[in-house]
Amino acid sequence: MNNLKKQVGIKAATFVKDGMVVGLGTGSTAAFFVAELGRRVAEEQLKITAVTTSSVTSAQAHELGIPLKDIDEVPAIDLTVDGSDEIDLELNGIKGGGAALLMEKIVATYSKDYIWIVDDSKMVEHLGAFPLPVEVVPFGCGQLFHLFDVLGFKPTFRLDDNEENLITDMGNHIIDLHLDKIEDPAALAKLLDETVGVVEHGLFNDMVKTVIVASETEGVKVIS
Ligand code: A5P
Repeated sequence: MNNLKKQVGIKAATFVKDGMVVGLGTGSTAAFFVAELGRRVAEEQLKITAVTTSSVTSAQAHELGIPLKDIDEVPAIDLTVDGSDEIDLELNGIKGGGAALLMEKIVATYSKDYIWIVDDSKMVEHLGAFPLPVEVVPFGCGQLFHLFDVLGFKPTFRLDDNEENLITDMGNHIIDLHLDKIEDPAALAKLLDETVGVVEHGLFNDMVKTVIVASETEGVKVIS
């Protein structure tokens, strides 16, 4: 599996050119992309500026000597490359398994180009087997949890290593919805967007045009 993740990470790095502002995704697959960019910066004198989607990725980029800027210090983001937890046939996705969905969605929204890199286990017919993360403001999150429960969304709070409610890089909590199958991703996104206390959710509908996927049998493919 790691080998497939590495292959798509390396492939995605070929889309990065001198002078670009690059959005760096989060997760085990995006980490291979960041590592390859770091190699190109060090060995090929690739000249880029990067913005990050999490403190973890920031630390990795810093370690590799990739020049980082705050998202509000760059005029625009040329290309963001990130992983995904599930991708359906229309290239809608669920993200946020690594709790970075809010920063990931903001960086993706302000990127001119956006690519997902995955192994083929992430490609599904319908979204929802992977729990859908919802980032919520701590104040009143118990009420919101109850609302999700009443709606039949089977909510659970994401916990940290100390069994406390996880706190995201943006200071919020995550409620995971165990939906099994999302019949209408657009309708669910609208409902969550309109729910008070929800900061952001992990449904990334109609955001990506290119997916780089690797499988043991067919190698690396670019789908768009
Ligand atoms: C981080 O919050 C996530 O959106 C990740 O991008 C996603 O979970 C994919 O992670 P892996 O590449 O580790 O599977």
